Amino acid sequence: MQHDPLAPVVTIDGPGGSGKGTLSSLVAAKLGWHLLDSGALYRIVAVSAQSQAIDLEDENALVVMIADLQIAFAGDIVDVNGKDLSDIIRTEETGVAASRVAALPGVRDAILALQKSFQRAPGLVADGRDMGTVVFPHSKAKIFLDASAEARADRRYKQLKNKGLSVNLRDLLEQIQERDARDRGRAVAPLKPAADALIIDSTQMTIEEVLETVMTEVTKGYS
Ligand code: DC
Repeated sequence: MQHDPLAPVVTIDGPGGSGKGTLSSLVAAKLGWHLLDSGALYRIVAVSAQSQAIDLEDENALVVMIADLQIAFAGDIVDVNGKDLSDIIRTEETGVAASRVAALPGVRDAILALQKSFQRAPGLVADGRDMGTVVFPHSKAKIFLDASAEARADRRYKQLKNKGLSVNLRDLLEQIQERDARDRGRAVAPLKPAADALIIDSTQMTIEEVLETVMTEVTKGYS
């Protein structure tokens, strides 16, 4: 399918564990639009670097490596250069490593065009940290989804427990706070709401309530 710079885009930004991923999938399914999980791209960069023994601070080597990545998304399957990375990119450790490579301007620049290419008819739901501020600044429906660090750690804890993984709530909260500080504090494309974003604090909301609020905003922007 072709890149369409006029296709509508809903941007959903926010910190890790805010429920952006689930919300973005629901919004995309409801609208019948494409989905961009931009966090997955930074996660792929981190995992690929680790498997090639490239230092996560080595910006030049990372940029060269990115040029050779063939990335294909098919539902929940993430294939990179013929390898299925679907599970490994989803771990908490990979999230922390992704946040480190994401602080490097060269890395962000190297995946910018790829992210923009996801804008296709009939529309795109873009999930990330800088979708509304940097990648799709012309979007007419920008959401910034927030929740307290404690609520996010608690949700993540339940998700991982349900998957049968052994996790520690205090460690999760620490990882979330560490990642927040780096994502919000970095010099390039820091995590922050766009000036024209609707900020939703989901701490006390159900996913259905959040979805309804977002759909109203999309209708306002694109009807
Ligand atoms: O959304 P996520 O947890 O999969 O993202 C993993 C990391 O990638 C996150 O800590 C920061 C980085 N990221 C980013 O800098 N910009 C984006 N648009 C998406 C993710």
